Amino acid sequence: MTQDELKKAVGWSALKFIKPDSYVGVGTGSTASHFIDALATIKDQIKGTVSSSEASTQKLKSYGIPVLDCNQVDSLDVYVDGADEINHHLQMIKGGGAALTREKIVSAIAKQFICIVDESKVVDVLGSFPLPVEVIPMARSYVARELFKLGGKPIYRQGVVTDNGNVILDVHDLIIAKPMELENKINSIAGVVTVGLFANKGADIALVGCSTGVKELR
Ligand code: 5RP
Repeated sequence: MTQDELKKAVGWSALKFIKPDSYVGVGTGSTASHFIDALATIKDQIKGTVSSSEASTQKLKSYGIPVLDCNQVDSLDVYVDGADEINHHLQMIKGGGAALTREKIVSAIAKQFICIVDESKVVDVLGSFPLPVEVIPMARSYVARELFKLGGKPIYRQGVVTDNGNVILDVHDLIIAKPMELENKINSIAGVVTVGLFANKGADIALVGCSTGVKELR
């Protein structure tokens, strides 16, 4: 199976976690996009969605699936999204698609985070995938210097402006031995909007697409 076929398999397998008459949090990226295709087949059974990016919002609307503002709902039953890396504690690196801040907000109001990944994303230690950090533009150089002090090599993601009007620094060469500690440290740097480490609140369930089928990690 190709990587995209594995992503499609997990995207569709997440459907079984969607309850009738619920609001569904929807992530961003190619795996989440397969989930949206699947969700469209049961769109009449759900109340609506809250989306984590303009791209996902557009795709949801193209299917006629209602998209609500995050401020209109108190909580979501589930949030379904991909990841760039996930470890066995279900802590993740996210933000490869630059949607990390909205993804963290939508996942914060969800009772359950269902992470959908192909098997190449499962790692023992996070950090091989460069860690995305969303930064207020005027703080870019300062934040880069602070990230360097933490042992990483921040690279400015050229030409990318997030849905919130900010920029992304991708931090290379990190071996993330203590994900919660690093998440807290980076989030406390002035000018950082969000770090793409989802460690303090990770996923509740990971659906992993493997050549032998979809595996569930809890
Ligand atoms: C976007 C994300 C995505 O979930 C992550 O990049 C995985 O993407 P894909 O499903 O395309 O591999 O965090 O900001």
